[in-house]
Amino acid sequence: MISTDDALQAEPAFRDTSAAIQADNVQHYYGAGELRKQVLYDNNLSIEPGQIIIMTGPSGSGKTTLLTLIGTLRRVQHGELWVLNRPLHAINDAGLLNLRREIGFIFQAHNLFDSLTATQNVRMALELAAPHLSRTEQTKRSKVMLEAVGLGHRTDHKPKQLSGGQKQRVAIARGLVHNPRLVLADEPTAALDEQSGRTVVELLKQRAEKDKVTIIIVTHDNRILDVADRIVNLVDGRIRSDVLVREAAVLSQMLAGCEIFKHLTPRSLAEMVDHLVKEETAAGTTIIREGDSGDKFYLIRRGTVDVFRGAAAEPVANLGEGQFFGEMALLTGMPRNATVRASNDCLLYSLSQEQFRKAMSEQASFEKEIRTSLFDRQ
Ligand code: CMP
Repeated sequence: MISTDDALQAEPAFRDTSAAIQADNVQHYYGAGELRKQVLYDNNLSIEPGQIIIMTGPSGSGKTTLLTLIGTLRRVQHGELWVLNRPLHAINDAGLLNLRREIGFIFQAHNLFDSLTATQNVRMALELAAPHLSRTEQTKRSKVMLEAVGLGHRTDHKPKQLSGGQKQRVAIARGLVHNPRLVLADEPTAALDEQSGRTVVELLKQRAEKDKVTIIIVTHDNRILDVADRIVNLVDGRIRSDVLVREAAVLSQMLAGCEIFKHLTPRSLAEMVDHLVKEETAAGTTIIREGDSGDKFYLIRRGTVDVFRGAAAEPVANLGEGQFFGEMALLTGMPRNATVRASNDCLLYSLSQEQFRKAMSEQASFEKEIRTSLFDRQ
């Protein structure tokens, strides 16, 4: 018989993966009985160390719930959630306490202590996360951190003597002072003017680049979108899109360079990019077989493919990075007119027939619009 202890041991207490955060099938509910309401559905997410993630979505979409689950402020009810290699779905209280020392929270300014000075408020994070440091050292580090957020001249002020933006910067200093490996921030720049917002964002970026700190920011502030490596959009408790920003820019440029999409608006291109599905294909794999019916369109991100027609042993074409295939059957409704095989390991992005048709029809309506407007001018 397996004892409870054995059963607990079956779950590893620590897992060494490359991901800083790994969510598998995470669901969450509030309330009980008839009032039980599901707020997160089947969410899967894998975040690399050093990434800056911006999480967006309407209020009530579940983003704060997801953030507080990752931040260990709520217990995982369903699914697996690994944070800094610890299983939050099966961790004990001591494990949680240890993990929290490696997390920096930047929530709303109002959770500063009114009776403490800015330095004392910041030092609290060090008292919890680095109790081995002397008080003098803790104070020194707190002041250095306040200087970094532009508050070197306000270290002895209490929250009541500070403006909204200054209080927010104290909260930011407190979230970073203990050099956390993961920073969770809820609207960190909302109360800040453009310039202070930039200072804070640059500071976060520096931590991510230099120290591989993973940073998740929940925000509606589109002035800071450029800092994100990745934008995760939640709607109705589900991750609706999860875009690697730099990769998305490359893909959108590639699509814009394709003859068949040349009339698409940047907005339609962006929507297409949102629906692309990454597919890794080993050398020699047949991706499309002549005579089959068409279901997907493919864009080549890396690698090359050969196109064969009929029984000929020699390919009729060799396609590479930025080129596409599989459009003919989708455009004509005819079977695939050739066989396409990976000539080396490829990274492809595919688009479903439905999304491909949608993009083409938008293009058609765009062309029609132009024709009509030209016609109207005559
Ligand atoms: P489809 O017919 O959907 O599937 C096979 C694909 O091979 C076809 O779309 C084209 O994208 C591609 N293809 C066929 N013939 C050629 C060719 N001569 N040059 C480049 N690509 C081709």
